[in-house]
Amino acid sequence: MPVLNVTTRDGESRQIEAAVGRSVMEILRDAGFDELVAMCGGACSCATCHVYVHADHLGRLAPVQGAENDLLDSSEHRQADSRLSCQLRFAAELDGLSVTIAPED
Ligand code: FES
Repeated sequence: MPVLNVTTRDGESRQIEAAVGRSVMEILRDAGFDELVAMCGGACSCATCHVYVHADHLGRLAPVQGAENDLLDSSEHRQADSRLSCQLRFAAELDGLSVTIAPED
């Protein structure tokens, strides 16, 4: 199974199995990363699933647009590598993707 590399807010890094077809948010929640609140359940209306994608991997993702972009603008912690994890559908080609859970707003 493909894997996802995750770094928590405390700097702890783990590699977890990532089910193809699930969102990165769902994969993180299923693996027990409770610090990722994901309050709206993936409806792209809360921005509490904010992650930073490793710079080397940004090019593997479709660009930010629409509601995701607007919501990220509401975060004090937005960076060039910011994404909403509920909007990232995990595909086999994303094997080895690395994300860091962003600070809470
Ligand atoms: S879970 Fe609410 S925007 Fe992603």
